[in-house]
Amino acid sequence: PNVPTPVNEPVLSYAPGTPERALLKETYARMAGEEIEIPLIIGGKEVRTGNTDVSVMPHNHKHVLARFHKAGPAEVKQAIEASLKAHREWSRWPWEDRLAVFQRAADLLATRYRPVLNAATMLGQGKTAHQAEIDSACEFIDFLRFNTHFTQKLYAEQPFSGPGMWNRLDHRPLEGFIYAVTPFNFTAIAGNLPTAPAMLGNVAVWKPAATAVYSGWFIMQILQEAGLPPGVINFLPGDPGPMTEAVLHDPNLAGIHFTGSTGVFQTIWKTVGDRIDSYKTYPRLVGETGGKDFIVAHASADPLALSTGIVRGGYEYQGQKCSAASRIYVPESLWPTVREQTLEMISRIRVGDVADFRNYMGAVIDRKAFDKITGYIKHAHEASDVEVLAGGTYDDSTGYFIQPTLVEVKDSAYRLMCEEVFGPVVSLHVYPDSKWEETLRIVDQTSPYALTGAIFANDRSAVLQASDMLRNAAGNFYINDKPTGAVVGQQPFGGARASGTNDKAGSILNMIRWISPRTIKETF
Ligand code: SER
Repeated sequence: PNVPTPVNEPVLSYAPGTPERALLKETYARMAGEEIEIPLIIGGKEVRTGNTDVSVMPHNHKHVLARFHKAGPAEVKQAIEASLKAHREWSRWPWEDRLAVFQRAADLLATRYRPVLNAATMLGQGKTAHQAEIDSACEFIDFLRFNTHFTQKLYAEQPFSGPGMWNRLDHRPLEGFIYAVTPFNFTAIAGNLPTAPAMLGNVAVWKPAATAVYSGWFIMQILQEAGLPPGVINFLPGDPGPMTEAVLHDPNLAGIHFTGSTGVFQTIWKTVGDRIDSYKTYPRLVGETGGKDFIVAHASADPLALSTGIVRGGYEYQGQKCSAASRIYVPESLWPTVREQTLEMISRIRVGDVADFRNYMGAVIDRKAFDKITGYIKHAHEASDVEVLAGGTYDDSTGYFIQPTLVEVKDSAYRLMCEEVFGPVVSLHVYPDSKWEETLRIVDQTSPYALTGAIFANDRSAVLQASDMLRNAAGNFYINDKPTGAVVGQQPFGGARASGTNDKAGSILNMIRWISPRTIKETF
């Protein structure tokens, strides 16, 4: 058998007059007008706990999209039991049949449900149509299709045999269940974290972020319609603290597939460490965590390419991508031109309701994010050696809107150059051209993170030098491009240091973490 060769899903334009634009607008308006109720899904069944919370629009926070039920420790226990029950059959299904479920889900998404999941991501997570399209449509479809391909490749990996014997690798899934903890900022990541292990015969308890329960619910519907058997993936929105506590107490925990903050992942890791003798097997911990992603420009850089990289990398999706450009280093010689071009581009950015397709930025995700980001902006206004060059204003009366903000920071070690903001605030440091090498050292050492980074230079030796000195500073390194927008199958994604375990999402290197092979030697 050969799984269909994956091809990256083409990005639809949503330009005025296109059929996809009309359909998306219509779907968005219809969904905005309906308040839905979202139950948990345990063992394929809807469960209502009565302990509910609401999903609202970030750009109109009084508008309720859904009322969702929350799991407590009792539902976590039920979900673990349901998943272990499903494990018996699912792990024994012919792998082609397992993969067919996800191939079908990809097709359903590419055709019938594309406008629904895009609209859900726009409504619930505040993405523009384009940002939703590259995430909940293209990236998610790509994860599903490419991961089926990687699964087949993994299964083809077999040992050598000799006369009188036949050696085999039985690519078993992990013994137990996977806990998938997913973020709000990418619907595709939310879909990928439970489905990637499931392709290899694993079962999962999936805790979506509270701010992305709405799109998560539609993902779950698509998977069920595609034929995912009951219990393989259990959908459990709920409060992270008590849920995670219940999960980490279970001896059958076999793995955690996590995207979220560094602090939460480290706490999980410590708890797992403390309880390591209570588990049946060593749980696999795979996490993508924080970032303070950089752009460093050399004097040979193209100023327009650099300015575009700063603006697109820094402000698309309101700077809430884990890969967002957040600290920028520009040489003095380029600064006047780059300053003028960047400020001109920022001045043309429209911020507002994502239903208006002319807006380039929507609102940030919620009150907590708004308070944290505006805290940094207030700090920037007050600090003596920080200058706010653009933006610096915000308004939460209707939605959590923050203007694209650019701050110039004199001290390259200042906290705005080191700490993760996760919002549309870009910190920029201008360095003397003569201090190029020293700047590279600063880029490498002022932040604990190492997720993404970019160098802009036309001088090849500068590229080589940066690539070498920054070899551990970013898991995804871009030459003359913004540090966001990794494409599944093209740029395997993930970083090390405080940014994660670097098990490259969207590649065979991630899939390999979800098997526990048995070697079989048979003699004749
Ligand atoms: N994959 C996304 C990007 O590269 C981040 O998660 O922007």
